[in-house]
Amino acid sequence: MKKILASNFKTNHTRASTKNFVEAIDKFVKQEGITNDVFIFPTATSLDCFDVCENISIGAQNAYPVTDGSFTGEIGTAQLDEFGIKTILIGHSERRHILKESNELIVKKYDFFKSNNYKIIYCIGEPYEVKLEGMESIIEYLFAQLEGIDLTYKNLIVAYEPVWAIGTGKVATVEDINEIHGVLKQKITAPLLYGGSVKTDNIEEILKIDSVDGVLVGSGSWKIENFIEMIEVAEQLRN
Ligand code: 13P
Repeated sequence: MKKILASNFKTNHTRASTKNFVEAIDKFVKQEGITNDVFIFPTATSLDCFDVCENISIGAQNAYPVTDGSFTGEIGTAQLDEFGIKTILIGHSERRHILKESNELIVKKYDFFKSNNYKIIYCIGEPYEVKLEGMESIIEYLFAQLEGIDLTYKNLIVAYEPVWAIGTGKVATVEDINEIHGVLKQKITAPLLYGGSVKTDNIEEILKIDSVDGVLVGSGSWKIENFIEMIEVAEQLRN
C-alpha cells in the first residue's frame, strides 16, 4: 500500500523558501523514483504554479467555500484555480480552536470543496481534556467531528491529529494510535493519516502501524533535509 506524506507549513516559509523547498522535494522524489504520495501545504501567499512530478501535490491550508465574492481576507476557488490547486486541508485543529471555525462552517467547506472535486484532507482530533476522560469520550468526540461529512467521498483523506500532540513534542503512543485508528477504520474507508509531533526519529514506528496510511507533519517537516528523510524512511518501509 502507498503511504502518504504531507507537510503542513502552517504560518512558515516565504515565497522564496517555499519555491526552494518544493523544487528540492520534487528533485528528490524524481531522482529516487519515490512511489509514495507527497503533499505540501504552503501558506496562501506562497502558492504558485509549481512544476512538480505526479507523486507530489501542492494544496491549500484553507480557503473560503466560494468561487469569489466579498469575504475580506479570504481566498476562493478563483484564486486557487490560478495555480491549479485542487487539494485542501479542512477542519485542522488550529482553525477549529484558535480561529474558532464552527462545525457548521467546516461542513459547509467540506460540501463545497467536495462538489468542486477537491482532494480533501479532513482533520479530526480531541483536546487534552477529552483525552483525560478516556477512550470512550475520545471516540465520541471524533465521531461527532465526522458528523455531516460524506465519508464515502472518493477524494477524501482523513487525518487524526490529537490536539494535545500538535506542536508540543508529545506523541500519542503506538498503542493509542493503533486503537483509535482501528475504531476509525470501522467507519472510514478513506486513507487515515496520523499527525501530531511526528519527527524524523519517530516516523518509522508510526508508519509501521498497520492502520496508519501516512502522516501529516508540521514543524518536523519544515526543513528540506528532514522532510526528505521522512520520505526516505517511508519508501524503505514500502520495499
Ligand atoms: P506538528 O507536527 O508541528 O505537531 O503539527 C502537526 C500538525 O498540525 C500538522 O497539520
